[in-house]
Amino acid sequence: MSDFLKAVKVTENVYWVGAIDWNVRNFHGYSTTFGTTYNAFLVIDEKITLIDTVKAPFFDEMMARISSVIEPEKIDYIVSNHAEMDHSGALISTLKVAKNAQLFASNLGEKALKAQLGADLPVTVVANGSKLNLGKGNLHFVETKMLHWPDSMFSYLDSEKVLFSQDAFGMHMAGSKRWHDEYSGYMLKTEATKYFANILLLQAPKIIDLLNTLPGLNLDIKVLAPDHGPMWRNDGIAYVLNLYRELAEQKPTRKAVVVYDTMWHATETMAKSVADGLMAGGLDVTVINMQVSDRSWVMTQLLTAGVIAVGSPTLNNNLFPSIADLLTYMRGLKPQNLIGGAFGAFGWSGEAVKQIGEYLTAMNIPQPVAPVRVKYVPTAADLTACFEFGKSLAANLNSAAC
Ligand code: FEO
Repeated sequence: MSDFLKAVKVTENVYWVGAIDWNVRNFHGYSTTFGTTYNAFLVIDEKITLIDTVKAPFFDEMMARISSVIEPEKIDYIVSNHAEMDHSGALISTLKVAKNAQLFASNLGEKALKAQLGADLPVTVVANGSKLNLGKGNLHFVETKMLHWPDSMFSYLDSEKVLFSQDAFGMHMAGSKRWHDEYSGYMLKTEATKYFANILLLQAPKIIDLLNTLPGLNLDIKVLAPDHGPMWRNDGIAYVLNLYRELAEQKPTRKAVVVYDTMWHATETMAKSVADGLMAGGLDVTVINMQVSDRSWVMTQLLTAGVIAVGSPTLNNNLFPSIADLLTYMRGLKPQNLIGGAFGAFGWSGEAVKQIGEYLTAMNIPQPVAPVRVKYVPTAADLTACFEFGKSLAANLNSAAC
């Protein structure tokens, strides 16, 4: 067997037996630039236990890694911390090999697994706060409802001090290394932030609740093991917990995101003047053209911003499709603590700017500065108006004293 397909030791009796997806570039709308991993973990105790599985096409890869430690038929327990198919897709195949294994999930996990994999799937429900004895160690179950699915839960293995946190604290990043301190700080922060912005942002208040609850559970965590990307150890554990609090609080910073699309460069020219005005107002500015970027990068940038300015041409009485896509995606994730503004060029009807405003209002994003609309090609006076629009947005953020 190649070293690549061997299990990786996590602690004395815990092994990483997941899979590496080098090729995935679209994870239900999230642009996964660096691929991902589907992490599964094998606990060797009197009851041999598998924590989560992998996406269906990666069953053989997971089985090879399990086989490098034990015969898969010997698995006694399988715990499903999260029923989404990137972690349960290989479950039925695994149960066909581990014929005697007992499957455990949360109450809502049972419902989700049965709905996806078959109503006759035998699932033993574990309650929040309950524990399962494996021999020397116990798995303690902590429900984390809506982080990010109703079924989600954490499992904590007391004998090895490992917290298996399913999607939480993960990132979409394929790689040959399994630990956070084997990657650069830049990669970790960027990809963990991108993951939070695109998977967890809607549930930010629940993240804060969880972070406030965790210390009271008195879990001595030596390894924080998510279902995607590297595991956290040593200082990395406090780092990612603090990062999550910072991201969940969404405190506005002195940064603006200008996002636009354009037909004949009129809205693009406006966007540049808006950005100039924001910079003149003292803000850091990120300008994103949706022709060359994607919605998940916009959300990542927005998470650390205080201002969003959205520009769209009008096409057939509507928003430009890429901007409609972005605003729909953004409305679902509900970013907080932003102020916003709309601008755009048009030929004869010019509905897009009003429609941007309606989306921003639906997201409770105040628009303290009147939008700017330009017919056909912006004049020098129009660009001055765009500059002043940006500068006024910056002044409004400044007055919010962030
Ligand atoms: Fe990694 Fe929500 O699945």
